[in-house]
Amino acid sequence: MNLTVFGVGYVGLVQAAVLAEVGHNVMCVDIDADKIDRLSNDIIQIYEPGLQNLVADNRSAGRITFTTDTEKAVAHGQVQIIAVGTPSDEDGSADIRYVLAAAESIALEMDQPKIIVSKSTVPVGTCDKLRSQITDVLNARGRGDLAFEVVSNPEFLKEGSAVADCMKPDRIILGTNSAHAEELMRELYAPFNRNHEKIIVMDVRSAEFTKYAANCMLATKISFMNEMAGLAEKLEANIEEVRKGIGSDPRIGYDFIYPGLGYGGSCFPKDVRALIKAAGNIDFHAPVLNAVEERNNHQKMVLFEKVSQHFNGDLRGRKFALWGLAFKPNTDDMREAPSRTIMESLWRAGASVSAFDPEAMPECQRIYGQRPDLLLCGTKEAALQGAEALLIATEWKSFRAPSFAMIRDILTTPVIFDGRNLYDPAVVARHGIQYYSIGRKIAKTQ
Ligand code: UDX
Repeated sequence: MNLTVFGVGYVGLVQAAVLAEVGHNVMCVDIDADKIDRLSNDIIQIYEPGLQNLVADNRSAGRITFTTDTEKAVAHGQVQIIAVGTPSDEDGSADIRYVLAAAESIALEMDQPKIIVSKSTVPVGTCDKLRSQITDVLNARGRGDLAFEVVSNPEFLKEGSAVADCMKPDRIILGTNSAHAEELMRELYAPFNRNHEKIIVMDVRSAEFTKYAANCMLATKISFMNEMAGLAEKLEANIEEVRKGIGSDPRIGYDFIYPGLGYGGSCFPKDVRALIKAAGNIDFHAPVLNAVEERNNHQKMVLFEKVSQHFNGDLRGRKFALWGLAFKPNTDDMREAPSRTIMESLWRAGASVSAFDPEAMPECQRIYGQRPDLLLCGTKEAALQGAEALLIATEWKSFRAPSFAMIRDILTTPVIFDGRNLYDPAVVARHGIQYYSIGRKIAKTQ
């Protein structure tokens, strides 16, 4: 099938590459000429396991092409997938201007019937807006005769496992009431729908809302556990034991109940805020969503507060090692990462940071540039040099089994503030290192 994908960001590029891999003929279009140029030379700006090879292989096989030419791109695909960004407005609501612009380009250029697929996370009602906008443009062109359908098809991929998630989706949500659009979309996704039925067809607004409800539910699980972790500390219980205890109930489940430093990334914070805003716009009281957001904002400060308390509020001139900059492992993404709140709080308090991350250091450099209170180090060991304490913000696998003897010997005050509960407190204490974690007692050295 010939497909066009608008937007070569995270969602667009991964989805396009996966669709090409199963044999579709995919043309990607983006307004960013630099990005398109780089992709046409197999240079991929984001770090995502498996993506580089997938794009390169399919490009050399001729199944994926990149262009800035919207006329050519619209002519190419029977199905036009819109996967452009929907950033937060200043007030927290989702900004759909790029989605509207893509739909306008399609309406201006199309001269064959099209199925237009909204894959970006968009507020409920956006597909209705797209439909009326496209109708208006076609009428203005005197092409009101051209048939089109707008389908909502939200994406659920996770960064770090985006290729695998797209290859083996848990579910494929199709929001449409058109039998013809449904038939074409089923054909498009048939290669991903082989072992058991994954396609769930529903009305357009419910499909749009499903994406927000899913992300807000997951964010709620995290904020709830973070709140329980705070309480566990005060009540002298161990949240890691509690986590296993409650996860064994299948109604709760083991997934997504890890306490930590709060959720970050490009989706949860933005989507929770957008739904709060949408609820506010229709005067709907949504205390749960507001609490999820409030807890998360607080949680990002938890590690800094522990550091500050340990040093009696006197952080000026001290240097801290920070392991982990990305908002989670296997990505270089630092959008809304807890590491940023931690670094910025330390800087404000007059401290400096020497940091290491396996993938996100170029991104950190891009965000903060050169500054005297930030040193990016080539290894996790180098980050410890001259530091008083070690802070851990991301649970990268390579942080799981460090040499505690080395950490103790290098740090000037051997203390670890672990925001991801990577270690057994008794083991760390046995090595002569004081250990703070989330939702567990402070482990003091004997
Ligand atoms: C998420 C959704 O999972 C995905 O379905 C949606 O399409 C986009 O948003 P992503 O942002 O890539 O994907 O990350 P995810 O792995 O879901 O983690 C989100 C955040 O939650 C991270 O900051 C992570 O550290 C945090 N998290 C996750 C926890 O703090 N505890 C957990 O138990 C799980």
